[in-house]
Amino acid sequence: MCGIVGYIGTKKATPILVDGLLCLEYRGYDSAGIATLEKNEIKVMKDKGRVNNLYNLDGINTLEGTVGIAHTRWATHGKPSKENSHPHTDNSNTFAVVHNGIIENYLDLRTFLSSKGYTFFSQTDTEVIPNLIHYYFYNGSVSVLNDNKEKLLGAVKLAIQDLKGSYAIEVISPLCPNEIIVVRKDSPLVIGKGENENYIASDIPAILKYTKNFYLLDDNEFAVVSTNTISFFDNTLEEHNKTIKNIDWDANAAGKEGFDDYMLKEIFEQPTAIRETIGSRFSLGEKCSFDDIEISKEYLNNVNKIYIVACGTAMHAGLTGKTILENLCQIPTVVDIASEFRYRNPLIDEQTLCIYISQSGETADTIAALKLAKQKGAKTLAISNVIGSSITREADYSIYTHAGPEIAVASTKAYSSQVVLIAILAVYFAEILERCDKKIIERLKEDIIDLPSKVEKILDDTEIIKEFAKKVYTEKDMFFLGRGTDYNVALEGSLKLKEISYIHSEAYAAGELKHGPIALIENDVTVIGIITDSNLVEKSISNIQEVVTRGAKTLIITNQILPNSNFDFIINIPKTNFLISPILSVIPMQLIAYYIAKFKGLDVDKPRNLAKSVTVE
Ligand code: G6P
Repeated sequence: MCGIVGYIGTKKATPILVDGLLCLEYRGYDSAGIATLEKNEIKVMKDKGRVNNLYNLDGINTLEGTVGIAHTRWATHGKPSKENSHPHTDNSNTFAVVHNGIIENYLDLRTFLSSKGYTFFSQTDTEVIPNLIHYYFYNGSVSVLNDNKEKLLGAVKLAIQDLKGSYAIEVISPLCPNEIIVVRKDSPLVIGKGENENYIASDIPAILKYTKNFYLLDDNEFAVVSTNTISFFDNTLEEHNKTIKNIDWDANAAGKEGFDDYMLKEIFEQPTAIRETIGSRFSLGEKCSFDDIEISKEYLNNVNKIYIVACGTAMHAGLTGKTILENLCQIPTVVDIASEFRYRNPLIDEQTLCIYISQSGETADTIAALKLAKQKGAKTLAISNVIGSSITREADYSIYTHAGPEIAVASTKAYSSQVVLIAILAVYFAEILERCDKKIIERLKEDIIDLPSKVEKILDDTEIIKEFAKKVYTEKDMFFLGRGTDYNVALEGSLKLKEISYIHSEAYAAGELKHGPIALIENDVTVIGIITDSNLVEKSISNIQEVVTRGAKTLIITNQILPNSNFDFIINIPKTNFLISPILSVIPMQLIAYYIAKFKGLDVDKPRNLAKSVTVE
């Protein structure tokens, strides 16, 4: 997804901008560009392709400006090309803009601006923005003002009043050489405060090495950023104060630290991430508590349904969350895909608790789904990895996974931390509700505490996983089978494989196999089975035998002693409570996808067509 960086200070802006864009590469993009203010004119350098290509553009080394904006584009309107890359300028090259999000009414705005004599050179929705700013700067109610800074801020406000959709915008102009103007709605933007310099970014890791002090811009909030000051304005341009937040992520945590890829690093970070997620939320023999939320027995007793809403991997974490919540709290729980939920007119009211899971906290569909539930009177609870992210600011309650920055597009440590956090949340609810046997809760707590060392054990020996990956990396199709929570994790394993290895794969509830998919099983097709629930071992085995009989090559991930072993590969993982076993069984599957993609020579961290944070619908 598109990324934004901005710099204003005393140093050359270009290297800082390009460096910031490199840190945002993980979001997924197809073009990159920067604009700097150079002796009273805007210089734009942009093209399709990788951020590093910027250094090959003619003239980039001559840029001296200390004010600049930058962008990585993920094409929505118009193919990846130089013309469609950001920054975009108005016809007179007086205003340069970078934009994340989508302007839904851009065609109407183009028609309006064309009627006023403006010409368009790209197919993007964004190009209307600098031209609208130009139009209002010279023709709007602000055009009579004498102060260019006030005039530009006023023109940006008038321009965005015309926009329907989502945006995070940076604007520079030689008419205001000492300011960058920014505004956002439904698309993230943060401002990093430095000494005699300030930074702007769509994502904290892009500027984390320069500062740990951040302002998190709110929806419909404007900021005027200069070298030494940052001023904030509401949507009527009334100025207000804003609290700075200290983000204590380690800048190195956003680097690869000797691993070949971010994904591998993040897979190996899971024991630490899980420890951080557990934090001080509980210890054995004591009731679970959250610093950030307090929920009453009266409220929980009144909840008659829980919705868990999310996208992608986060939705898969929600599936396991459902099983844990239903088991411990006896509250019916529905899991829904955010993009479906928001248009389904879901049956929710004041007695529904809606839980939203999002690593980034910026996924457009998840945010919209949360807003919908609020409108219908439900209480909302956000689970996110990013402090101050949009969903956490919208929700009634927010809790954090504390897994550290996740850079690779394919989510790994966020998934395991999300499942751990929902398990802790379920324990917290269960202790308040007192509907579940205390001994069961206490045993689950012990199992949660033991998770990090069990994950370490799996990560200690990955040879059999590599060996398996080497055998199958040229295949076209694979199947993942499981029952109960093993089915939930089969879905996640299959998603990981698709995302980074581009191998077609399907996940099925093992009992469903005979109702259709078994027709696809023929000699040498690869089937991965997950068996971790002792109550379902025999059932799962007989389902997997059905594919063995038809010549399938099988890999079984299990914590059980299997009665027969006519499977080709077996990966043994430590035993744990079946409710949280996906946290262990997902690890081999993440590594299978990783090594297969490596054997295929693919870019593991930046898979084609995918974005880390999907901030458009
Ligand atoms: C994108 C990412 C996935 C992620 C999903 C939801 O599709 O590529 O890895 O699971 O968005 O993201 P979120 O930040 O809301 O968890």
